[in-house]
This record gives sequence, structure tokens and C-alpha cells, in this order.
Amino acid sequence: MPLLDVRLVAPGAARSSASVLVLPVRPAAETEAPDAEQPATEQPATEQPATEQPAASLAGAAEPAPDALSAAATAYLADVKHSGKAGELRTLPRPGEKPATVHMVGIGDADEAALRKVGAAVVRACSDTPTPRLVAPADAGADAIRGLVEGALLGAYRFTLASKAEPPKLRRLTVVVEDPDRYADALAKATAVAQATHLARDLANMPSAAKDPAWFAAQALKATGKLGVKAVVREPARLAEEGFNGILAVGGGSARGPRLVELKWAPRGAKTHVVLVGKGITFDTGGISIKPMQGMQLMKKDMSGGAAVIGAVLAAALLKLPVKVTALVPMAENMPSGSAYRPGDVVRHYGGRTSEIRNTDAEGRVVLADALAYADKRLAPDVLVDLATLTGAQSVALGKRTAALYADDDALAQALADAAEAAGERVWRMPLPDEYAEKLDSDIADVNNAPDGGAGSVVAALYLREFAGGSRGKWAHVDMSGPSWSDSASDELTKGATGWGVRTLVRWLDSLVP
Ligand code: BES
Ligand code: MN
Ligand code: ZN
Repeated sequence: MPLLDVRLVAPGAARSSASVLVLPVRPAAETEAPDAEQPATEQPATEQPATEQPAASLAGAAEPAPDALSAAATAYLADVKHSGKAGELRTLPRPGEKPATVHMVGIGDADEAALRKVGAAVVRACSDTPTPRLVAPADAGADAIRGLVEGALLGAYRFTLASKAEPPKLRRLTVVVEDPDRYADALAKATAVAQATHLARDLANMPSAAKDPAWFAAQALKATGKLGVKAVVREPARLAEEGFNGILAVGGGSARGPRLVELKWAPRGAKTHVVLVGKGITFDTGGISIKPMQGMQLMKKDMSGGAAVIGAVLAAALLKLPVKVTALVPMAENMPSGSAYRPGDVVRHYGGRTSEIRNTDAEGRVVLADALAYADKRLAPDVLVDLATLTGAQSVALGKRTAALYADDDALAQALADAAEAAGERVWRMPLPDEYAEKLDSDIADVNNAPDGGAGSVVAALYLREFAGGSRGKWAHVDMSGPSWSDSASDELTKGATGWGVRTLVRWLDSLVP
């Protein structure tokens, strides 16, 4: 589905045509209660006068509403006790008038994060309205408008394969701002990030019957090919020649062979080379160590890390970011069969390091090991970052909205955490304790792939670190198992695949531009 058409217009432009108007509402100014200093016990509650909660009010807007409408809206805000909180939306019907419907949306403190919620709330409330008109708050910064547009574009995302699906009724969102030219850059960034996030969501939402490694690889090329992104796709024969035996082992059980996709955005004059690695398991049954039904249900999403890094390259190319970015996505379907790899096998990864397979369901790390070793040995990265739906333990520790971040380097961890925060995605840094690394020991190989003894997300990260080689100090790993999927729509997230990581990566790449 194409992106929602969001247009920034100057005040007054095309005003009469909209039947639905959305006005910004700010919370009541925080007033200090006169007796705030006194302990509550000195004034029994019964003696306190019934204080009216101060009402939210219409915010200063890029385009003033007509006086009569302002008066009606102001009265209504008090009647419905609008809080003005970012994204709270109340609707004033005006039968027989124009505009016939006025939504009043809270803008909170009107920063980027608040306006992201506003954008999402507005497209949700206007899903049946073809061309609503949203008036931005006055003096909105470029970041705030970026948030507004990003929230609207992301919140309007839909994925369906239903034959009866109708095209969305909401066609165009007109946003009134004081000076549209001022926000051209914000609009471009929001649009690129949303387009890339939509791609990542589409890829993860696609059922695995269609989404085999060959299809996934073809989609990556199709999305980025026209923008000057170079691609190499390694098929099984070439993977064998070059020693990518981790990818071949995990992909061996499926009738649909594995791939390694390498995308390169290499603008002239780029000073930094970032290598992004994403787990691309197109379906994870667990393999011979098969998952129970419950645990297998959502495993079409096990390529979300790969989808996110492909999305990041797409956005980098759309925005012509002056940073060299290589994305590596090992793609395989983890199936049980007569040709599947098995517990007890020893896999020789790219570059020669070996893994003893204890659990074929710990397959993500086995394919990532090849890709990380290849990145370290062949690509000379300045920074090496991998994203993966790697462990169930990640969401046990941090839940569905916060990813686990691992890095030895404090500055890199901080930069990624800052980018995530600004982008509206959350990460929490986790430790890489050296004393846990001995859990990875094997009698017959360099490491084993499924240590017992808890800390599942941590030991998976420690396993990956073994393959970063000389790049270990420039490596970061993000375990995004929980955040890759949302069970319900909320703010800019829609139900299903979230495209988690695209926003963080694009912010971070942008921050590397001198
Ligand atoms: N893809 C799963 C992890 C996962 C689980 C992601 C749930 C998202 C939601 C991964 O391949 C896996 O199966 N990990 C195992 C590792 C274990 C066998 C050491 C796990 O977490 O149980
Ligand atoms: Mn698995
Ligand atoms: Zn997996």
C-alpha cells in the first residue's frame, strides 16, 4: 500500500474544501495550588472547596479558527474535560455547518514525541474521512513537524491479503503550518523513514508460504535497486564455495534454499562505513529441536531484524545520506526434515570458527555468526551493528516495547540509545559479563550455540561477540524479539509487524553525518 499523502500547506490554502477539521488543544497551564506547601492533614478534605479542574484550551494554531467556532470549541473542551494530553482526541459534531466535524486533539508539550502521537491519533480518528485538514500548533519546530508527519504516516499503515479489502477512505491529510518551506527537510525525513518502516512491516507481515529466502532477497533488491544501491545475492552453491556453512546448516532442512543478501549504499565522499547485519529467518519452526505450537505461531516475523536493516539502507538511499552503509542479511528457513541440521552437529562458520549445535532452535546466532565473521574479515567496517529477533528471553526481561542493546563500547551504546530515544523506539543496555562467556565452552568446537543456565539474551549476545573478531570493539547487537511485533494498535504502531529498528538506525546513521 502506498504511503498516505501528507501535504503541508500555508494558512488559508484550500480552506473551504475540508469537511473535517482538526484543531490542536493544549493542556491547562500547570497552576500551583495555593495550599500546596501545607501538609494535607491540616485541612480535612471536607473543608476544601470543590476546585474546578482547569480546562484545556485551544492551542495557538498556525491558522486561527473563526471566532464562533473557537467559542464553541472552547466551551466543548470544558464540557468534555479534555486533558490536552498528547493524542487525546474528542469530537465536536456541528450538524449543518462547515466544517461539519471538528476533532480536538491534545498536543501535550508539543515536542516531537508528543506530535508523533498526535499524527497517529488523527489518522486513526479520520480513517473514514477522505481529506481531513489538521492545523498544526503555532511555532512548531521542524522536529515537531517531523514527529507529526511520521506519526500520521506510520499510524495509517495497513497490511491485508483479504480479497474483500477496500482501499483506504483516508486519501490525503492536509497539515496547515505557518511556512511549509521551513519543513521541507522534516517532511523528507519523515517520509523516507515511514516508507522504509512500511517496507519492513510488509516484509515481516507477509506469510512464510510466500516469504521464502529467494522471495525475501528479491524484495530487498526490488525496493532498493533503482536508488543506486548495489546488491549481491549469494545462492547455496556460492555460499558453499565461500564457506558460509552456518547459513547452509540452518537452511538445510528447507526445500527452499538459503540466501545471503549484501546491499551497499556507497555515496561518493563517505567517510564512515557502517555494516548492518539483520537476522533473516523466514520461518523458525525450531528445526529438529522443534517448537511447540504456541511458540511457533508468530515465527514468520523471525526476519524482522533483516527487514529493518534493509529498510535502513532504503532510507539512507532515499535521503542520500553521505554514509557508506552495507547491509548483510542471511536468509534461511529453519525446518525439520531429512536434510535438516541436528543437535550434536559441528558447523564450521565463515572464517573457520566452529559451533557445536546443542539446539537447532538457536539458529539465528548460527546464521549471524557467518555474516559477522564475513563483515569483520572482508568489509573493514568502522561500526558493525546487528539486529535480530534472537531470543524469547529478551521479551521476558524487557517486554514488548524495549529492545536489548549490547556493546562493549560505551560511546557506541550511548549513540544508539540516544537515536532510539529520539526516534520513539526504546532500548535498554544489557551487560556482556566476561565470566558468563565460559558457558559457551564446548568439548569439541570453539563454542556451543545454546548454553543453559539462564540469561538467554545475554549469552546469545556473548556468542555473537565471538564472531565479531577484530571488530569486537566496534560492534553492537540489538535483540528486538519483543518490539518487532505489536498485539494491538497503539500510537504510531499498528497491529502486527512494527518495523522496529528502522527509525533508530536512520536516526543514528544521520547522526554520523559530520
Ligand atoms: N526466533 C527465536 C526467538 C524468538 C522467540 C523471537 C519469540 C521472538 C519471539 C529464536 O530463534 C529462538 O528460538 N531462540 C531460542 C534460543 C534457545 C533455544 C537457546 C529461545 O529463545 O528459546
Ligand atoms: Mn529459533
Ligand atoms: Zn529464530
